[in-house]
Amino acid sequence: MKHLFSLMLLFHIQLLAKNTYLDNHSCKECHENIYEEYQSSMHAKSYFNDELHRKVADAASKTTYACARCHMPMADNLQDLISGKARPDKTNKTHTDAISCYFCHTIAYVKKAHRFNINAKARQAENYKPTFYGRLDNPDESDKHSSVSNPIYAKHVCMGCHSHKRNENNVTIFQAMDEKQNSLGCIKCHMPEVEGGAEKMDKRARGHHASHRFLGIHDKAYRKTGVDIGIDVNKEKLKIILTNKMEHPLIIQPARAKFLKVQIIRNGKVIWKNYKKDPREDRQGYFAYSFKKDGKKIIVPATATEGSVHNLAAKEKKVLQYHIPLLQKGDEVRVALYVQLAKSDCARVIELQDKNLLKPSLIKKEIFRL
Ligand code: HEC
Ligand code: HEC
Ligand code: HEC
Ligand code: HEC
Ligand code: HEC
Repeated sequence: MKHLFSLMLLFHIQLLAKNTYLDNHSCKECHENIYEEYQSSMHAKSYFNDELHRKVADAASKTTYACARCHMPMADNLQDLISGKARPDKTNKTHTDAISCYFCHTIAYVKKAHRFNINAKARQAENYKPTFYGRLDNPDESDKHSSVSNPIYAKHVCMGCHSHKRNENNVTIFQAMDEKQNSLGCIKCHMPEVEGGAEKMDKRARGHHASHRFLGIHDKAYRKTGVDIGIDVNKEKLKIILTNKMEHPLIIQPARAKFLKVQIIRNGKVIWKNYKKDPREDRQGYFAYSFKKDGKKIIVPATATEGSVHNLAAKEKKVLQYHIPLLQKGDEVRVALYVQLAKSDCARVIELQDKNLLKPSLIKKEIFRL
């Protein structure tokens, strides 16, 4: 009898979860601009349409999907995905919606924790329309939801997923933010105010809203703005001054590499390079994570027992020095910063269909002429 009762209860809870979840598409009716922006963002990418994430996740484990915590946080069977009782399901909206509107806008507060932070969700009252949190002054109500201003949207909303992650062996997989940092900086750079009201009618005549495109490393124009490159030549010494203007390190993703390509050109010919074939030859100009398990190098960090990163910290200015040939008038020093969305090592453990992921893409370049 007790068994039957708990079964019924379970059924009831699942039904409720289905009834109260408003999917991404349902927001489009009123928040059309925001919906379109969001659809083009990485937050709309899920296990199903982000090849890099899916392949790395499957290489880490074919049975458990612990990544769901941050990559599929709205899942109505989150614990089952994490423990391996269930797999990602293409027909389940709470799976395909990825980092969904509903998820972000019902985060009540963020609990700090050692391995990764935890997004604490607001409990939504049964049979009532949901309450969404945001940062608008005196927000309007709608027939679909009520709106409440919550200071979390300035302070901590990005920290639940972006701050840090450690694996079961206490190895840091990424550390993007420190404890004292808040989300206002993230919002200022990644969600700038753009034209158009927060909803279609713009009844409150706000005239602008926070962009939900969340531009980052995938956008050609945007990624130029993160790092300044200075060039200084003194006899046979070349100094490259890198200044990270971002409030996070240059590398926050273990799959990525960012590296410098430096060339000296004389009469149209390359007379000096910082590496011959592989950018990894120049250790000071190659930024990436590396991991080991029991002393041996591994690529997927899930089971690593050691890890290290060559990085440019938040707001850090670093001077790289190279010994070069004596320059003549007319010579050119070309310095380019590239990103490999999936570093070369990834190709050893996963097969990527989209070859652009491995091909270096330009972040920015500077030229110094003598
Ligand atoms: C604590 C939260 C968290 C967990 C857990 C997590 N990730 Fe992530 N992941 C992120 C964040 C935040 C980003 C975006 C950061 C970035 O792009 O630099 C990201 C980005 C990625 C990317 C880059 C995606 C792309 O296309 O650019 C890959 C690959 C990835 N994660 C793999 C995984 C795998 C595999 C797991 C599970 C074994 C996992 N992550 C678990 C937070 C997490
Ligand atoms: C029937 C129309 C309608 C639908 C559908 C709708 N909203 Fe809204 N929403 C509004 C209106 C109106 C406002 C108030 C705008 C203002 O005050 O300028 C609003 C405000 C908001 C705010 C701002 C809250 C604050 O305090 O800053 C958020 C967040 C929000 N909506 C999220 C969503 C999400 C997520 C969905 C889909 C799950 C959604 N809305 C669906 C009409 C709607
Ligand atoms: C001063 C502006 C600025 C601030 C503040 C800032 N970012 Fe960025 N961020 C950028 C730029 C520019 C890029 C793209 C260039 C790059 O990644 O090298 C970027 C890249 C990213 C990426 C993708 C990086 C990758 O290589 O995968 C993530 C994720 C990200 N930011 C999240 C955040 C979070 C979370 C915060 C708040 C702690 C934040 N950003 C604060 C400017 C900023
Ligand atoms: C990664 C978390 C995240 C996701 C996903 C997200 N939002 Fe937001 N949203 C925010 C934050 C943070 C703000 C507050 C930005 C500010 O005040 O500058 C915001 C603001 C808003 C606002 C108020 C407009 C404004 O200018 O403040 C609306 C409406 C809104 N979001 C709707 C949506 C809808 C609809 C979706 C999905 C299509 C969505 N959001 C997805 C984090 C998110
Ligand atoms: C529920 C977890 C979660 C929250 C909360 C969250 N993010 Fe993300 N974010 C992710 C994940 C996971 C990815 C990578 C998705 C992928 O690549 O498949 C990502 C990717 C990004 C990117 C990468 C863009 C690029 O080009 O690679 C930026 C920028 C970003 N987030 C900014 C923010 C900001 C700003 C906030 C706070 C307003 C925020 N995120 C809140 C999980 C989250």
